[in-house]
Amino acid sequence: MARRFLVTSGLPYSNGRLHVGHLAGAYLPADIFVRYLRSKGEDVLFVCGSDDNGVASLMSARKEGVPVQDLVTRYNAFQKEDFSRVGVEFDVYGGTHHPDFVEMHERISQGFFRSIHEKGFFEKKTSKQLYDVEAKQFLPDRYVEGTCPNCGNPDAHGDQCDRCGSTYDQIELIDPKSTVTGTTPELRETTHWYLRLGEFETPLREWLEAKREPHGDQPAWRDTVLNFALGQIKQGLPERAMTRDLHWGVPVPLDDPDAEGKVLYVWFDAPIGYVSFTAQHCADHGGDWKEYERWWKDSETRIVHFIGEDNTVFHALTWPAMMQAEGSYQLPAQVVANSFLNVKLGDTEEKFSKSRGNAVWLGEFLNEFDPDPLRYYLTAIAPESARTAFDLADLVQRNNSELLGALGNYVNRTLTFLQRFYEGVVPEVGERDERDLAQLARVAETQASMEKNLDAYRFKAALGDLMALARETNAYFNDKEPWKVRKTDPAAGGTILNVCAQTVKGLAVLMAPFLPYSAEVTREMLALPEGSLRWQDATVELPSGHVLGEPRLLFRQYELSEEQPTD
Ligand code: MF3
Ligand code: ZN
Repeated sequence: MARRFLVTSGLPYSNGRLHVGHLAGAYLPADIFVRYLRSKGEDVLFVCGSDDNGVASLMSARKEGVPVQDLVTRYNAFQKEDFSRVGVEFDVYGGTHHPDFVEMHERISQGFFRSIHEKGFFEKKTSKQLYDVEAKQFLPDRYVEGTCPNCGNPDAHGDQCDRCGSTYDQIELIDPKSTVTGTTPELRETTHWYLRLGEFETPLREWLEAKREPHGDQPAWRDTVLNFALGQIKQGLPERAMTRDLHWGVPVPLDDPDAEGKVLYVWFDAPIGYVSFTAQHCADHGGDWKEYERWWKDSETRIVHFIGEDNTVFHALTWPAMMQAEGSYQLPAQVVANSFLNVKLGDTEEKFSKSRGNAVWLGEFLNEFDPDPLRYYLTAIAPESARTAFDLADLVQRNNSELLGALGNYVNRTLTFLQRFYEGVVPEVGERDERDLAQLARVAETQASMEKNLDAYRFKAALGDLMALARETNAYFNDKEPWKVRKTDPAAGGTILNVCAQTVKGLAVLMAPFLPYSAEVTREMLALPEGSLRWQDATVELPSGHVLGEPRLLFRQYELSEEQPTD
């Protein structure tokens, strides 16, 4: 029986292009996981889209001097293109204010809000908030910056600090400044709906504590996520406003004059985007939008969220609290958070940042390099438990020595050898000696180890298994010296190359989640039908006499000097 997985990646704000740091955090590991599940025949839906509402898009639209709707629709299209060029294959890529999704998104977000409202988990409260007199507006979220009341970071946003990950009410900010006019805001009264998070402290704590152990087929959650979330609960979860004084977003769905001119907080509606994109996908494929409930409300589904570390508070606390308050949803089975990826420039490591101009843009990168080397490198240095740094020189070096030097070398030398000396046909199997059998067993062992690692969301370790197999099979080829044996004992030479061909087949299956383009090329070189790289077939042998395709190079050499690939 296939298991059911609903996999999401954090919705990127649609106010800019994607850089390789984004890819490494929430998208590439999710794509690898989904490809692995699909190749095992599991029932999986991979959902993402852009986070269009809220202040981030409004600020960028103002800066670019374009209507905010145009801005978010344009960046949504860029993101879609960038993801597709790097082989991140969502089943649906929506947008919380995208013309094709906005209606469904409003319907589901408003229903969600109304349910929580009816259950009495909101408190309507009038309090003082920051107001920009010059701009004549309240200053929600990114419209104000100041010093974090928790860690002292001087560049904290109005709702969240990127340095320590904490959230707070904007009036707790020290030295607030309007990002609209640069002036110091004053306090004015306004009414909002606050979610009583305190009521969920105990259920959240119990739910999270249980994640310290494996549960069902899921491994324990990463310590980084649990320690952060449980630490927040320990400090106490204060109520948080879930509405904002803004005109861009999902209107507050209450028949109440105080709700006028207000929208839902972007961190309220954004995670519901996962649900509304699922519903729209169901509507577009087979008809009934309500099918989304099979993915979100049925305990047979495992909901897995992939995110960057700065999203932890929302996915491990606020969103599960919202789901508990609403009452009909499944809580996530897994929240996989990665640390940030820094960038290495010369001897220094920095955070990627648009303003510093050090970002490695995905679209630009892919104009120069193939997607698989990037997928390889970002997985090899994946910031799974701590920050790591992207270093172009390191990427080039590892492409040349590992992808090309070990994996590509093995596949290519085997296939060209077969072409030249065995007429491009898988040779007869003679008597296999211990070394031959050990080599074949290594494929099965590697697969088992990769499976264990992938099931536990350890992508770096799984890739390490794959590359160890590539190195060992090169050693097998070297030690067996088929170039000599084929002359002295053609049958024995055939046996060696048969083992080598079986290993190429195994590698094609096992590399596919990580290196989908190279796996496809290998599949073609093996003349296997499309869609045949199924996980369980990694050790199913190619029959003797199977006619292979034309060999061609799997990877190319890169040179750093001009950052240009050479053919
Ligand atoms: N846009 C947010 C960010 O980039 C992530 C939103 S994730 C969602 O940090 F769950 F809210 F959708
Ligand atoms: Zn802070």
